[in-house]
Amino acid sequence: MKLGVKSTALSVIAAVFVGVLSVAIVNGQTGAPERAPLSEEVFKNVQVMKGIPVDQFMATMGFFSASLGMSCGDCHAADDRNWDGFAVDNPKKRTTRRMITMMAAINKDNFGGRQLVTCYSCHRGADRPRATADLAVLYGTFPAPDPNEIFAASAPGAPTADSVLNKYIQALGGTQRLAALTSYTATGTSVGYGPEAAEMRAVELYAKAPAQRTLVIHTGNGDNTSVYDGGMGWSAAPLAPVKVLPLDKQELDGAKLDAMMAFPGQIKQAVGSWRVGFASTIDDREVEVVQGATPGGTTATFYFDKQTGLLTRWIRYANSPVGRLSTQTDYSDYRDVAGVKVPHHMVVTWLDGRETIELSSVRPNVPVDAAKFAKPATPTAPPAAR
Ligand code: HEC
Ligand code: HEC
Repeated sequence: MKLGVKSTALSVIAAVFVGVLSVAIVNGQTGAPERAPLSEEVFKNVQVMKGIPVDQFMATMGFFSASLGMSCGDCHAADDRNWDGFAVDNPKKRTTRRMITMMAAINKDNFGGRQLVTCYSCHRGADRPRATADLAVLYGTFPAPDPNEIFAASAPGAPTADSVLNKYIQALGGTQRLAALTSYTATGTSVGYGPEAAEMRAVELYAKAPAQRTLVIHTGNGDNTSVYDGGMGWSAAPLAPVKVLPLDKQELDGAKLDAMMAFPGQIKQAVGSWRVGFASTIDDREVEVVQGATPGGTTATFYFDKQTGLLTRWIRYANSPVGRLSTQTDYSDYRDVAGVKVPHHMVVTWLDGRETIELSSVRPNVPVDAAKFAKPATPTAPPAAR
């Protein structure tokens, strides 16, 4: 992929920028109803992407960056000495607004409003799309098809989803042992991406069946906490535009799926409308590609190792006005916990960040204090933070 150095700059700016905005916004938090604030309620100069939750708005910025191979700084003259800079308009921002409107019109006029053309369709990681067919590519070796797309029906000759899912459940330890694991707590470490990779952070994970999950990452700038309590969810981070952000709609449904996947014996309840795509490979290992949707409408793709039957990767998608926002989780280092195989190495990747989590100890079937799944307190960054 084309990330690398540019994305490094991207995450620095993203991390620093949110630090300043958060100061202004904390006041409004207390006693407010649990509704995710909208983009125009938090930011100063939103003209096109109004009416969407703040986290979705920020994710669309990641989508722009990924689609164009740009970093935040390519469209915003904003840095750690000029925070209001993100709201200031410039030619790139104006072009981008025009592109958003153009893209919506293409989809409306030609594809019945379905979001088939996005920034990525044209740009493919470059600031200017190519208009000329590249003969070198045409006559060169073809890259493997990207399995990371939405497909409507099963591929011809594919195994049934049920057979792949049953093999997975068997490989994990079988229905009975999975059902007997009803809670766990874990500790470990995590590293971020780019500049955040320098810091090894302690991690705590709490999970209770069927669908409660809390992940705490103790960063040098304070605690980042994600909670799904079985009905509501929050994301808390001292450097975020809204320090304790209630999750809404798609973000909430995604958090619910994360929580249910902490107890994967219920994968068939969590997701339905299954179809099986063409087999693919991840790191030279063959995988079955199985896709479905949650009752809440989140589409997710699961990649099962053909040989072991275990889950190697899963990706969930949220919709946005400009394109699909992917969150990918990679699993490895499966180890036995109370007779159930639990991945101890997890890499979570989204459009503008990545977290690599290593669990060192998992304690099965221990009581978990209900307070662990409560709305997080407002996190504070230590004064020494940048
Ligand atoms: C391709 C250009 C482009 C890139 C790259 C980009 N943005 Fe934006 N950004 C925009 C546009 C356009 C708007 C205004 C959207 C609107 O009017 O609806 C905007 C608005 C914003 C705002 C709202 C500012 C305000 O107060 O009105 C913030 C904050 C922001 N961007 C942050 C970021 C961050 C952080 C990144 C990197 C992850 C980023 N942007 C990457 C084009 C870009
Ligand atoms: C139908 C194809 C198409 C789509 C879809 C599209 N673009 Fe573009 N975009 C172009 C073309 C072509 C250019 C180059 C225009 C030129 O050179 O005058 C361009 C140029 C740009 C530029 C200016 C780049 C520069 O270096 O000056 C930005 C920024 C941009 N697009 C952002 C976006 C964003 C963000 C999206 C999604 C909301 C998007 N585009 C969707 C075709 C597209």
